[in-house]
Amino acid sequence: MSKHNLESLNPLKFTELIKNRETKIANASAENCVADFNANVLAQKLHPQKQILRVIGIKEEKDAKIYTLTAEECAYFTAGQYLSVYVNIDGKKYSRPYSIVSSPKDALEGFYVIAVKRVEGGIVSNYILDNLNVGDTVEVSDPTGNFTYEPLRDAGHIIAIAGGSGITPFVSLAKAISEGSEECTLTILYGSRKEEDILLKSELDNICRKCGKVKAVYVLSEEDKEGFEYGFINAEIIEKYAPESEYSVFLCGPQAMISFADRELPKLNIDKKYIRHEVHGEVADPKVFADYPENTPHTVNITVYVKGEKTEITASSQNTVLRILEDNGINPPSRCRGGECGFCHSKLLSGKVFIPKELDKRRQADSKFGFVHSCCSYPLSDLEIEVSES
Ligand code: FES
Repeated sequence: MSKHNLESLNPLKFTELIKNRETKIANASAENCVADFNANVLAQKLHPQKQILRVIGIKEEKDAKIYTLTAEECAYFTAGQYLSVYVNIDGKKYSRPYSIVSSPKDALEGFYVIAVKRVEGGIVSNYILDNLNVGDTVEVSDPTGNFTYEPLRDAGHIIAIAGGSGITPFVSLAKAISEGSEECTLTILYGSRKEEDILLKSELDNICRKCGKVKAVYVLSEEDKEGFEYGFINAEIIEKYAPESEYSVFLCGPQAMISFADRELPKLNIDKKYIRHEVHGEVADPKVFADYPENTPHTVNITVYVKGEKTEITASSQNTVLRILEDNGINPPSRCRGGECGFCHSKLLSGKVFIPKELDKRRQADSKFGFVHSCCSYPLSDLEIEVSES
């Protein structure tokens, strides 16, 4: 062995390591300093804290509008993800998640498309529909969410069960499949009351015409028409369009539709890991949950602490705690508004809340130590709660 190699094995050399490193740092020139590491630059591009997008197109469709939003660089995403859109209404900041309708390839070309549907009593969607015009800018989050196709977890064929604006993530997935950026095949069962209520139908039909890997079946509950299925999306209809081989079921739509489908799915003996729910968006009325307790007081008093500052609120118990906070000018962080992402994680200091079991995605430690997700917690009594600031 050479003298040099023997030297490098000398354990006493380690004692000089820190001294040598400090000398090198002290003698390094500022010119050679690496300010931006490639990994950090890429992470920043994929997950910018916020994006400012300009509205370049608005298409009216039924009681919805389809917005095309652009920026010099749009963060890349996976089909099925959503953007949180932030708006200021009468000095109060609100956010709502909207699934991206366009494809990941469109983001590389500098635009996203989202669909906003009018909601009875809705604050943010209705504000956007009435106030956002071509040329306006809007602040949105980076693309977020886990309602995406993952070949290691999901079956190669997806049966999508959609209702209302719940069709939007599946249009993105259908486009991604037709453009070759997703490998799966897709059958969409889209439930609507009447043909006139079907959102993005021409978009979907175009994709189906061009791409044999995507099929759309429209299921009408109030019209029996040729070319459409009639009734609700039940086990029989799912079975009729399901392949012989294994398949995953992805569900996105109003809570009543999801609850109905969830009661049907066990009849098909589908492995639980193949059933996926999109949870973004709050459920406005807690009474749709079968286990919502009766005799809940109509109004409650909530004491909120933000960075030690105390605010007293009196509010209806029929809203989520997050919605109550926003209505009162308090804006904790939030994204999915459906219990999943954990952004609205808050400490419940006293009082009781109703958390629907299907939306309770807290870690065990959070439940044990009194943390709740305010987006899916409905007050059952007066509360004291500590929330973070966004
Ligand atoms: S906003 Fe995602 S868990 Fe509440």
